Amino acid sequence: MNYNILAQGYNELYKEEQIEKLAFIQQKIQIKKSDLLLDIGCGTGISTTYFQCESIGIDPSFEMIQQGKENLILGRAEALPFKDHSFDIILSVTALHNFSNYKKAFHEMKRVLKKKGKIILTLLKQSKNCDKIKKFLLDQIPFTLYSLEKDLVLIYPSHEDEDTPF
Ligand SMILES: C[S@@+](CC[C@H](N)C(=O)[O-])C[C@H]1O[C@@H](n2cnc3c(N)ncnc32)[C@H](O)[C@@H]1O
Repeated sequence: MNYNILAQGYNELYKEEQIEKLAFIQQKIQIKKSDLLLDIGCGTGISTTYFQCESIGIDPSFEMIQQGKENLILGRAEALPFKDHSFDIILSVTALHNFSNYKKAFHEMKRVLKKKGKIILTLLKQSKNCDKIKKFLLDQIPFTLYSLEKDLVLIYPSHEDEDTPF
């Protein structure tokens, strides 16, 4: 999909359904005001601004991030321009199927996540590599898996006191 072309109409087309996914996520995990969240494949920043905490969004489409507000930067999931263990929360909503290398992207997510951080990923069910990505992710860490109408949601850890195994 060419997000540069889609950018202008993206929020009108997709904001409502993306917000529904975020509302589900909000019920499942606790996010503190003091948390620093990285939204990877942030697009227009719908998820970046949803949660009540400090957030940064990253996306390679200039046109998409131009539609959003502050704290959105240009970049790719496969080469995150951040130091190790920088973020409390890694979020990526309906984006992994677009990444050129989801394995490298996941490695980067783990690198920039703090020791007791949380990872929340959603996968578009209708994408052709959804099953492959899901299997890869579940082999990496014991995510809790939920199924929504359009996306699978993977959350780790499912309990606040659980340690991240990396
Ligand atoms: C379906 S949109 C989702 C946007 C946003 N997460 C949302 O929920 O509205 C997928 C996004 O993934 C971005 N994307 C594509 N390849 C990427 C990559 N290698 N790294 C990070 N983001 C990427 C696209 O530019 C696009 O903005």
